[in-house]
Amino acid sequence: MTELSYRTLVATDAAAYRKLRLKALANDPQAFSSDAEREGAWPIEQFAKRIEPSPQQTTFGAFDARRLIGSLGFLRSAMAKTQHSASLFGLFIDPAYRGRDIAQTLLQRAIAKAQTMPGVSQLELAVNVENTAALHIYEAAGFAPWGRKPNALRVGSTSYDEFHMILDVSASR
Ligand SMILES: CC(C)(COP(=O)(O)OP(=O)(O)OC[C@H]1O[C@@H](n2cnc3c(N)ncnc32)[C@H](O)[C@@H]1OP(=O)(O)O)[C@@H](O)C(=O)NCCC(=O)NCCS
Repeated sequence: MTELSYRTLVATDAAAYRKLRLKALANDPQAFSSDAEREGAWPIEQFAKRIEPSPQQTTFGAFDARRLIGSLGFLRSAMAKTQHSASLFGLFIDPAYRGRDIAQTLLQRAIAKAQTMPGVSQLELAVNVENTAALHIYEAAGFAPWGRKPNALRVGSTSYDEFHMILDVSASR
């Protein structure tokens, strides 16, 4: 395996992002609110729009050579009363690359970004309560659960609760 690298995705990464995202939704349906059937129908422009960097949004990517093998979305609220919050979503690492601290690296990059964004004081996310791998990573990074949403996800006939977690990034400035 070649050395891994990390960078922010841009609109021209849309095809690679689409491929990884659809793999995520098909491989780990219990980890995401969306589904492969829904996003599989989207035109490529919609994926480009989702990852195009803006003052509000950034998508962090991990690469093996030129192959995108992991990503994490960061979205700051655009509204005056909630713009102190940013959300993390869509964390996924290709199964062949798990257990190599790639998710932790992407998460640390997102936290570092929040810490350097003037006016952002907290990061938020939601995670399936049964997702022990993701919970471990979020808790290790300092996220704490503040609530549990019952029946947040229904995958087939199985319901899952979600923890809502928060990290105060103003304290570490
Ligand atoms: C969760 C996920 C992102 C982790 O990615 P990863 O790159 O393998 O994770 P990392 O290698 O950075 O983190 C490894 C840490 O998690 C721990 N970990 C990994 N799998 C675990 C598991 N099943 N249970 C408990 N801890 C686990 C490791 O022990 C390690 O902790 P340590 O540093 O204290 O030893 C990956 O499994 C994934 O993409 N899962 C499917 C999608 C998903 O669940 N996304 C999160 C949505 S909220």
